[in-house]
Amino acid sequence: MKTYLVTGGAGFIGSNFILYMMKKYKKDIRIINVDILTYAGNLENLKSVEAMDNYKFMKVDICDKEAVLNIFNTYDIDRVIHFAAESHVDRSIRNPEVFVNTNVLGTLNLLNAAKLSWETEDGYLPDKKYIQVSTDEVYGALEGEEGFFYETTPLDPHSPYSASKASADLLVKSYVDTYHFPANITRCSNNYGPYQFPEKLIPLMINNALNGKKLPVYGTGMNVRDWLYVDDHCEAIYLVAEKGRIGEVYNIGGHNEKKNIEIVTMIIDTLLEMLPKEDSRRELISHDLITYVEDRKGHDFRYAIAPDKIKEELGWEPVTPFSQGIKLTIAWYLENMDWMERVTKGEYQNYYKTMYSI
Ligand code: NAD
Ligand code: TYD
Repeated sequence: MKTYLVTGGAGFIGSNFILYMMKKYKKDIRIINVDILTYAGNLENLKSVEAMDNYKFMKVDICDKEAVLNIFNTYDIDRVIHFAAESHVDRSIRNPEVFVNTNVLGTLNLLNAAKLSWETEDGYLPDKKYIQVSTDEVYGALEGEEGFFYETTPLDPHSPYSASKASADLLVKSYVDTYHFPANITRCSNNYGPYQFPEKLIPLMINNALNGKKLPVYGTGMNVRDWLYVDDHCEAIYLVAEKGRIGEVYNIGGHNEKKNIEIVTMIIDTLLEMLPKEDSRRELISHDLITYVEDRKGHDFRYAIAPDKIKEELGWEPVTPFSQGIKLTIAWYLENMDWMERVTKGEYQNYYKTMYSI
């Protein structure tokens, strides 16, 4: 049985990854979830696994050297899946510092602890691997409708968020190049699915629409993102962790490009299709809620991933078409409105007022 150390396991992708792994591979793995529980971390997401023998939660800051080393000294960790991060571009534009602390220094700390615990006189203990979960945003932006990011595309981050993620990637690369540290870097496109915090486009629009609130579209709404259903991403990470060639970077995406305005329009239409005829919220939802607002500073125009390498080497392809994934996602939010109510109480209200003046 392999022991996976999952950082940021109480966040959106981390909690989906733990739930996915516990469902699909529960006999083969033990998971230790390390998370400091920022505004984005929520243990409620993991209720269904918290009593399982092969799952353990530890409230630890990845920047805490002693605490992180202690985890490696206590448990025989086979895989590190490093999700923990500050992850929202808009927040990074307002407050870059915490992004450098968590995303760069936190990664360095984790790398050092794994290296120290895994290294031997002539290399590393067998079958150990560190996975840096990164983003396509490190490649910068594609300016037109054509072209894709490849693993060989030069890094050219624009936001403080993507700069911090690119810095972390370069640290991982330096550990591979200098110390032959056993690692992979994965760079995925925009994820969507259950448990995503409503600061990101899709859950924010679902929540606002259900409450008859305006739907703030930045700039022209013509910016393009490549959307990946979170379970497809989880399977890709598992494959890279188990079968990826050491030292390699793998892009994860699905040729699922959509303009932001298309996404918002689809959310409105799908909500109206899915809500029962007698549901009073239907009266609140219409295309008139769409409100164009001031553009994000430095707003990257288009992201698009070429996932050819992971397909060729590991046989991975996304299996969830957007038309299906968006329905699964909306259905989850409709069934979990109490989750949404809890996470949008308190601090979220201040965040929303500061970010959106509509
Ligand atoms: P998220 O913001 O939902 O979750 C981040 C988690 O990290 C939270 O549970 C938070 O409590 C935890 N965390 C933050 N600082 C910590 C610290 N110092 N110590 C321990 N835990 C800490 O993020 P997400 O959307 O799930 O993203 C996960 C990873 O995937 C991130 O590294 C992000 O850069 C990357 N990524 C995300 C997307 C996306 O579409 N969401 C796309 C590409 C890459
Ligand atoms: P987001 O979900 O923040 O992800 P990222 O910036 O990491 O790609 O935003 C996705 C796209 O949606 C991005 O082009 C910005 C846009 N957007 C809006 O138009 N309005 C919003 O309220 C938000 C949060 C995002």
